[in-house]
Amino acid sequence: MHRLTITRPDDWHLHLRDGDVLGSVLPDTARRFRRAIIMPNLKPPVTTVEAAAEYRERILAALPEEADFEPLMTLYLTEATTPGMIEAAKASGFIHGVKLYPAGATTNAASGVADIRRCYPVFEAMQRVDLPLLVHGEVTDPEVDIFDREAVFIERHLQPLIREFPELRVVLEHTTTESGVEFVESGPENIAATITPQHLLYNRNALFAGGIRPHHYCLPVLKRERHRQTLLRAATSGHPRFFLGTDSAPHPRHAKESACGCAGIYSAHAAIEFYAEAFASVDALDKLEAFASFHGPDFYRLPRNTDSITLERVDWTVPEAVLFGHDPGVPLRAGETVAWQLARY
Ligand code: DOR
Ligand code: ZN
Repeated sequence: MHRLTITRPDDWHLHLRDGDVLGSVLPDTARRFRRAIIMPNLKPPVTTVEAAAEYRERILAALPEEADFEPLMTLYLTEATTPGMIEAAKASGFIHGVKLYPAGATTNAASGVADIRRCYPVFEAMQRVDLPLLVHGEVTDPEVDIFDREAVFIERHLQPLIREFPELRVVLEHTTTESGVEFVESGPENIAATITPQHLLYNRNALFAGGIRPHHYCLPVLKRERHRQTLLRAATSGHPRFFLGTDSAPHPRHAKESACGCAGIYSAHAAIEFYAEAFASVDALDKLEAFASFHGPDFYRLPRNTDSITLERVDWTVPEAVLFGHDPGVPLRAGETVAWQLARY
């Protein structure tokens, strides 16, 4: 297959940042996707409906004129979030989920949740008003091996949580392991997961290919090949509760090429193209549309998009660097080729 037309996709997990960086990364997403779930881990985090409303306005103001793009906002959960704030979030109509970061789990997660049980009254409210919980599913316990943090989180926190709130819609964000896939496949209809392009295309060897590779570092960290194969199988299975979420996360080059480099991979410049590569690698391009364009809106109870995009099987070379505001940043696959291209009209 050399040309593929699919219903316009959405990105169910995206970091846009703010200010100058927002203005420089947003066009990449808006060219490909009609909507995106916008992560709230700004500095300071987006913890209130008012802050989310203001952030949404800044995103709309930064859009290119021709863009038809809708930011789907989220709230950052803290131990100070109240059931009343959940009701207000639901009533807003523009907030589509609440993000749980275990405190310290990743970039700007310092104000996250240290004791998940303290949020149970908030989960009760979310279940009642039917607002999805989006979970960064990794424990922060330094005793737990970094490659096991997702599996341990599911066992210690997620299983008890879904037993206590059986109707709560939960998205295990950027699942990376067999444990995550099994959690969704064995779970009820209200449990889903997003999968990133990097976890479909790379295993943990990519972190150490000939030397340390900070631009392949994200959280959850890349896993071993066995897990990548399981993710590919899940994404291409047609299972309705796996869907596209890039976790595209811009960081300036200097913050990644550092003695203590930041977690995050920028993929928005070729996001749907990367997924096309991954699906083509297992001869499953016919499954891309449902994963990218149907399963997400169905789970979030939003209408499917009605327009389309076309991908062409043409190699192109990703630039060595792009600008995030005034700072250069290194996009995924920098200086190398991508096998699919978005057709220009
Ligand atoms: O690699 C990551 N980068 N993982 C996250 O969970 C956060 C993200 C970021 O905001 O940079
Ligand atoms: Zn993320």
